[in-house]
Amino acid sequence: MVSEITLRRPDDMHLHLRDGAMMRAVLPETTRHFARAIVMPNLVPPVVTSRDASAYRDRILAELPADAAFEPLMTLYLTEATDPADLVAAHESGLIKAVKLYPAGATTNSQSGVRDFEKIRAVLDAMAETGVPLCVHGEVTDPSVDIFDREAAFIDRVLDPIRRATPGLRVVMEHVTTKDGVDYARSGGPDLAATITTHHLVINRNHILAGGIRPHYYCLPVAKREKHRLALRAAATSGEARFFLGTDSAPHPDHLKEHACGCAGCFTATNTMPLLAHIFEEETALDRLEAFASINGATFYGLPLNEARLTLKKRDAAMVWPEKIGTEAGPVTVFDPGFPVFWHVSE
Ligand code: NCD
Ligand code: ZN
Repeated sequence: MVSEITLRRPDDMHLHLRDGAMMRAVLPETTRHFARAIVMPNLVPPVVTSRDASAYRDRILAELPADAAFEPLMTLYLTEATDPADLVAAHESGLIKAVKLYPAGATTNSQSGVRDFEKIRAVLDAMAETGVPLCVHGEVTDPSVDIFDREAAFIDRVLDPIRRATPGLRVVMEHVTTKDGVDYARSGGPDLAATITTHHLVINRNHILAGGIRPHYYCLPVAKREKHRLALRAAATSGEARFFLGTDSAPHPDHLKEHACGCAGCFTATNTMPLLAHIFEEETALDRLEAFASINGATFYGLPLNEARLTLKKRDAAMVWPEKIGTEAGPVTVFDPGFPVFWHVSE
């Protein structure tokens, strides 16, 4: 039985760091284990221009813990008014690694997102020409579509038409939650990839709704049926280059989660690596954890592989993590998988 595993240091290819006091409080939770992260731009107001991205990057670097060797990988928030020249220049200078597409209204802080996909045609063409990856929040916002069907509907109605109309466009399907998403990712070539979160490998929709409503399991896209969770586990542990880790760790203070209209987001930065070791061991795929967490994402984004290493050890005692992270905006609850985890990151 394997009880210790050493990986290249992992990268989190989808992370919400927020800003100000919240960022200060959650940054160490990521920098403790991760070397780099693709930082989501859904601030209020969003990170839209290269100037915004540069200023946000500086704010993150200024808050890094003293001993942290961490590189934030910046993104731009795509709007109908995005200037293709600014975007391409930001990518060519190395400032940004990707551009994020939020359908307007799909999730937290997506009001400035895209309503009319025709209006981003010129930007998408410029991105395809210059190889800038498009990270996609893949849910339709049509209120007549059932929330559990919104990812599958997005693939048919929006994503597939965009990809057909824009040959060469590099796309990351962010936080896929369905077998449909996994299958579609597999139907593409090397231009198409998908991130998978930690929590979607652990919970299905029953965890949110059966036996009482559990707001800390509510995120978007919402967790689906068990057959979808199993498809995600098979994809994540497959070793296939198109699938990689994006935790989507998304801090919200408890009073906004435990609320009549609670915010979407699970906070998993703290315990993602022990949880992934637990899951990959269950799937007898510990030897593929490094591909999922440390290699496939870097390779897709054309980044050098991390040289530093992270060791995980299985111990007799269960891992203990803080139930909550204290922030000036209020406590943030750490994702509770509901089972003991015996894997520890060896510090
Ligand atoms: C994210 C957030 O809080 O910013 N929430 C979430 O449920 N995942 C936004 C997002 O990625 O959809
Ligand atoms: Zn997200």
